[in-house]
Amino acid sequence: MSIRARLTLWLCGILLGVISLMGGGILLTQWTLAQRAAAEQIEIIGSSIRRAAYDALLQSDDLLLVGNIKFLERQYPVLAWAGIHWKRPGAGQSIDVGRPPEGRVVSKTVSVRDPLSPSKSISIDFKISRAALDSKSEQSFRRIAKMTLFAGASAFVFFMAFAFEFAKTLTSPLGPLADLSEEIGQGRFGRKLSWRSRDEIGRFVEAFNAMSEKLATLDESKKNFVSSVTHELRSPLGAIESFIHLIEGGLDDPSSAASAARRVYLERVRDNIQRLRLFVEDLLTSAAIERGSMTCLLAPMPLSRTSKEVRELFQARAAELKVLLRDEVPSELPSVLGDADKLRHVVANLVHNALKFTPAGGSVTIGARREDGQVWLSVSDTGTGIEAEDVSKLFKLFSKGRDSERTQDGSRGTGLGLYIVKSIIDKHGGDLRVRSEPRFGTTISFSLKIATAPDASKPKEA
Ligand SMILES: Nc1ncnc2c1ncn2[C@@H]1O[C@H](COP(=O)(O)OP(=O)(O)O)[C@@H](O)[C@H]1O
Ligand SMILES: [Mg+2]
Repeated sequence: MSIRARLTLWLCGILLGVISLMGGGILLTQWTLAQRAAAEQIEIIGSSIRRAAYDALLQSDDLLLVGNIKFLERQYPVLAWAGIHWKRPGAGQSIDVGRPPEGRVVSKTVSVRDPLSPSKSISIDFKISRAALDSKSEQSFRRIAKMTLFAGASAFVFFMAFAFEFAKTLTSPLGPLADLSEEIGQGRFGRKLSWRSRDEIGRFVEAFNAMSEKLATLDESKKNFVSSVTHELRSPLGAIESFIHLIEGGLDDPSSAASAARRVYLERVRDNIQRLRLFVEDLLTSAAIERGSMTCLLAPMPLSRTSKEVRELFQARAAELKVLLRDEVPSELPSVLGDADKLRHVVANLVHNALKFTPAGGSVTIGARREDGQVWLSVSDTGTGIEAEDVSKLFKLFSKGRDSERTQDGSRGTGLGLYIVKSIIDKHGGDLRVRSEPRFGTTISFSLKIATAPDASKPKEA
């Protein structure tokens, strides 16, 4: 049975219970009131008869009593019969007024004695027709019962319609939500439900839509990532294979021109192997960051060594791309607190990006300066620059700029580099700054603490 039907039945069941209780209460009250009114009427008739008997006794007028009893029988039709008994010294007399009623009767007796002459007394037996007494209250009881039943039935029908509508409103997004969940389960993401309400259901649908959208984005990122990884692995491997073929083809040629060419090819092979190594390192580091297991061992280190190593690493590539790669980090800068391997990875990523996005004839500069008790290392280029809207999101995992595939070296990128840069610099407690102007170039800098603390010589885990 559907939730809607169950909810409607439950609500109607509850209402039926409430209506029955209320109706029962009303009828019971009505019945009690009718019984009380009947008892009061019997009481009133009894006291009227007593008063008539007393008057007759005082006035010694028997006919007056008979007349009064007849009058009472007319006034109270339920009083059907009265048997009057006079008792006087040496004599007694009885007279019946009316006819004993049929069916159920209430029999009562009233006796009065003359206070001046106690031997004179009148006793009156009277019979009240119970059926006549009850018929009036039964009529009004039936009327009230009918009204209660009608009101209850109307309320029930009205409430049933309301309960059905209510259950429908409450449960209507559940069916589409179940369909959407099935779709998501089958790996089709991104569809949203249109449902507007400010209650918990509205919030639930909103959260579900956000989840569906997020899953679609993640799925898209995953697909892009897999195709980027394939490309980033395949293109250097293909290049290495081609250069090895070229080297093999010229192995028998002993001329100096052929040997110079072989040297150039070998340099290209090494260049591509470095590209692969940096890429594999990116993959491993981002996996460690995601697992939360990346650690940085902080120790005093000169940044000039890092910049020198990175320049050497990319020198050949820069020459090939006809970009001037400069290292302007002053050797007299104070040592910083850092993890030398991780910082090399950071600077290598920044220089790699800068070379990718700087056209031939441009330059890439690694610089550093001391500022506010810290050292800022920067990588500047004269490349394509980054759009202002892209800057804030580039440090997120898998995030790439809109022109990320228009690179000088043909690589497509994976969106891991700046994410790793930010994670490592965060671990060092440093800040990152991006200054970029589309078509004019980009400068990305980060700050590191100067290693002046007394315990700075011992490596510290961050
Ligand atoms: N020096 C730069 N000049 C222009 N764009 C850049 C530069 N550095 C980074 N970017 C932009 O930032 C994006 C993210 O960089 P990154 O995280 O290293 O990923 P990837 O290099 O794999 O594309 C790049 O796709 C590119 O759009
Ligand atoms: Mg990169």
